[in-house]
Amino acid sequence: MTETWQTVQWIVLPYVALAVFVLGHVWRWRADQFGWTTRSSQIYESKLLRIGSPLFHFGIIGIFFGHVVGLGIPKAWTDAVGISNHAYHLMAVTIGLAAAAACVGGLFLLIYRRRTNRRVFGATTVMDKVMYLVLAVTILAGVGATLVDSVLGSYDYREGVSIWFRQFWTLRPDVDLMASAPLLFQVHVTSAVVLFALWPFTRLVHVFSVPIGYLSRPYVVYRSKASTPSQGRRGWEEVNF
Ligand code: HEM
Repeated sequence: MTETWQTVQWIVLPYVALAVFVLGHVWRWRADQFGWTTRSSQIYESKLLRIGSPLFHFGIIGIFFGHVVGLGIPKAWTDAVGISNHAYHLMAVTIGLAAAAACVGGLFLLIYRRRTNRRVFGATTVMDKVMYLVLAVTILAGVGATLVDSVLGSYDYREGVSIWFRQFWTLRPDVDLMASAPLLFQVHVTSAVVLFALWPFTRLVHVFSVPIGYLSRPYVVYRSKASTPSQGRRGWEEVNF
């Protein structure tokens, strides 16, 4: 691959994606606050959702914290506190793969449900489809890279991808670190970059709306139709003179 393309892939695109991510969220908040939602489809189907959604979300939250540690903490720091490379990887891979199994299982159920339930599929937008595709590629390439290159192979991402990731935030990313990473890692990171650029225009905005207020707000009272006084046709009450 040419040097120019590598610069585009590992420097230009990631910074453009970051700018789109930040400005896109500002734009979406100002232009479409009513659309800032998960676009829940629970009303159409809840059996599969009740299993798939928590599986996916617990898995992805575990993976998020795995990334915070794996990408954010330099190898020298874990060495300094006496954690051997072997112990570190054993812990990362066992906890990581358990989270990945939950995440992939949940994602499969969610996509299966969306594709096979007519009403859920009817409520699916083009943007949802694009988002699910990029999300699935990112997650599967991440799991593939872990299994093929970290567990079975000998690539140490803490000597490559992780260093590039931290350099990115100090504005000095070294292209060679990513250009020499195994293909699955390159696919994983490129797909994640695309996902971040799409993020503000999808239902993923709900990640920034954790409903903490729900813990203290009063209950919303739902009443069944049968218990309401008017049993007749919907509309105006009949007036009897
Ligand atoms: C630029 C951003 C990202 C970078 C640099 C990155 C980097 C990495 C690295 C180095 C690994 C290997 C971990 C290991 O071998 O133990 C990994 C695994 C993984 N990543 Fe990412 N990642 C990014 C974004 C994402 C995103 C946005 C998602 C999901 C939406 C994701 C999902 C995964 C999954 C599912 C795994 C496999 C975890 C496991 O099996 O333990 N990554 N990623």
